Amino acid sequence: MTAATLRAAAPRTGSYAKYLVFGGAATVAATAFYFNNNNNKVPQPQKPLKNLLPFLGGSAAKIVNTAEPEQGKTQQDFQQVYNDIAKKIEANGDYDGGKGPYGMLVRLAWHASGTYNQYNGQGGSYGGGMIYAPESSDPENAGLVMAKDFLSEIQYKYPWISRGDLWTLGGVAAIQEASGPKIKWRPGRVNYVDATKIVKNGNLPDATRDASYVRNLFKRLNMSDQETVALIGAHALGSCHEKYSGFDGPWTHSPDVFTNQFYTELLGKWYPKVVQYSGRHQFEDEATHSLMMLPTDMSLKEDEGFRKYVKLYAEDEQLFFKDFAAAFAKLLEGGINFGNAPVWTFKTLEEQHL
Ligand code: HEM
Ligand SMILES: *[C@@H]1O[C@H](CO)[C@@H](O)[C@H](O)[C@H]1NC(C)=O
Repeated sequence: MTAATLRAAAPRTGSYAKYLVFGGAATVAATAFYFNNNNNKVPQPQKPLKNLLPFLGGSAAKIVNTAEPEQGKTQQDFQQVYNDIAKKIEANGDYDGGKGPYGMLVRLAWHASGTYNQYNGQGGSYGGGMIYAPESSDPENAGLVMAKDFLSEIQYKYPWISRGDLWTLGGVAAIQEASGPKIKWRPGRVNYVDATKIVKNGNLPDATRDASYVRNLFKRLNMSDQETVALIGAHALGSCHEKYSGFDGPWTHSPDVFTNQFYTELLGKWYPKVVQYSGRHQFEDEATHSLMMLPTDMSLKEDEGFRKYVKLYAEDEQLFFKDFAAAFAKLLEGGINFGNAPVWTFKTLEEQHL
């Protein structure tokens, strides 16, 4: 039986994991936890579901998704896809009041991956699940239909690429074309063909919360304090939209360029502000009254463990680029076994004189 057949054959009876597919062999792990991830609560281990798991004789196991790269496609084929995304980004520089599509594409790659749960192997970018409810209608994903739509033209031109690969590659292209660091990337995500593997909402972060919430949520994503602070530096790009999240405005003065300015701005002076129509509480900068921070962003400078990295990245953009590139590549691969597949990086349009 191939890994794909095993995955297709494995039964699903709820929101807990019950099988492991690894290198073509099904293995059962010894212990299991049940995670309740409703209402933006960070999943907490609860009692093992012994009586609910007759299939495995009383043990749940971790899901491992095995990468199956698009057959017969080479790095050059994916560079073509990258180039078409990059050209479309370039052609849409006036999108979102001149911010361009960088922000929404990075957010799509992040939210497609940010459902990953390292404790049970569920979620992540593997199946491209955001076309199915409830993931597609998660309030935290509001607005991402624009990013999916932006990439659908590319999907039609290259029907062989999986959604997970396309959405993550879109984020890679946006970072690199915004003058950010090179992001290592590998193909092999496989489309879910129905909603059976879609996890409940509540895995993506709630911006109204504090540092310990952020730490626990990113721990579920298998990220350290350092990786967490590095990743949120992506807020250098794009902005909040009142119509999507209730929050409003950009974090930096150059939301179409990847910089360490999220950290330099964060270390400046901020005062609380209530967004007029949504009533959401955010922060506004004293210097220009034109930038914003979310409560979770502010928590990064209030918490001792996070603050040291905010300072490091504010002082050293090269270090931020290096750490962001590693953490973002890891984020996009959460829960996927790529085996020994070679890691690729793509050339920017500029490097190819395109
Ligand atoms: C505690 C963690 C985080 C919270 C609470 C958070 C929350 C938010 C919110 C509320 C928005 C505004 C959405 C809208 O109104 O359009 C946003 C946008 C954005 N987020 Fe985050 N985020 C977090 C982490 C991250 C991470 C890890 C990344 C990427 C690595 C990221 C990348 C972005 C980008 C690029 C945008 C701009 C989207 C656009 O311009 O359309 N965020 N985030
Ligand atoms: C967690 O991340 C480390 C690298 O930072 C990696 O070696 C490990 O396999 C990851 N574990 C899971 C369960 O994702």
